[in-house]
Amino acid sequence: MTIDECKIIELPKISDPRGNLTFIEGDRNIPFAIRRAYWIYDVPGGEIRGGHSYRTLQEIIIAVSGSFDVVVDDGNNKRVFSLNRSYYGLYVPSMIWRDLENFSTNSLCLILASDIYSEADYVRDYGKFRAMKGQV
Ligand code: TYD
Repeated sequence: MTIDECKIIELPKISDPRGNLTFIEGDRNIPFAIRRAYWIYDVPGGEIRGGHSYRTLQEIIIAVSGSFDVVVDDGNNKRVFSLNRSYYGLYVPSMIWRDLENFSTNSLCLILASDIYSEADYVRDYGKFRAMKGQV
């Protein structure tokens, strides 16, 4: 898995003078069925979330409100995705290291995941991650 597999998915946007609406349907707009949603909020200035990869989990990361950066890393190359639109989702497959940083005040990060929470699926040691990716 390389960072080339990470991609922005433009979600449907129903524009309406009463306010816009966006939706996601698992296995339709995104390449997996959604088994869990969680969200990150009230992030103090300068804090960094993430700092791990998953062995099998796939995710979609959305800046529902505000903005933040997602740094993806396949052990060889890195890329920064700046998210600031509520109708863009960033697809991050398994075995990609990610850091979430530069959260704006009152930003809201929604994450849709392909499975329920399992600590055993995390790789939290960067050296181990690189070794698993075949990098020394
Ligand atoms: P973690 O995934 O490390 O946070 P980050 O969003 O920065 O990557 O999770 C932080 C803590 O929350 C950790 O103790 C595990 C717990 N947690 C759950 O219990 N359920 C969940 O769905 C998630 C995402 C985390």
